[in-house]
Amino acid sequence: MTRFTVNNQAVEYRLDPATPLLWALRDASNLTGTKYGCGTGHCGACTVDVDGRAIRSCSMTIAEAEGTYVTTIEGLSRERSHPLQLAFLADNLVQCGFCVPGIIMAASVLLRRNPDPDEATIRGAITNLCRCGIYPRLVEAIERAAR
Ligand code: FES
Repeated sequence: MTRFTVNNQAVEYRLDPATPLLWALRDASNLTGTKYGCGTGHCGACTVDVDGRAIRSCSMTIAEAEGTYVTTIEGLSRERSHPLQLAFLADNLVQCGFCVPGIIMAASVLLRRNPDPDEATIRGAITNLCRCGIYPRLVEAIERAAR
């Protein structure tokens, strides 16, 4: 059995310890906001916050997540939208939307560590792929959310 905390709730998974965190979140916890893109740690669609780090959950096993605090897009904001979500909405940034939960999770980790990042810092921290090509507006939205 593997135990950790997801969105402030204790969870126990009776799964193979080698199960990727992504699939435990999606299939066992029905937290489908975390997306499967490449499955190889490259695209970032599966990004979640693990103990304050932006982690590609397809590349972390639940055994590696044991004892950690995991936050998914569903747990990022409970009663009101996160400033990043508001900034993305205000800019009508979402096109297909598939990459957005992972980008917002990566950006939320960045803003917690650096509340006033410059453009280069944002571009360095957000390595998620977006096939719709929202990158320039993405930087602006993160800068706006930081204000
Ligand atoms: Fe995890 Fe692409 S699905 S990085």
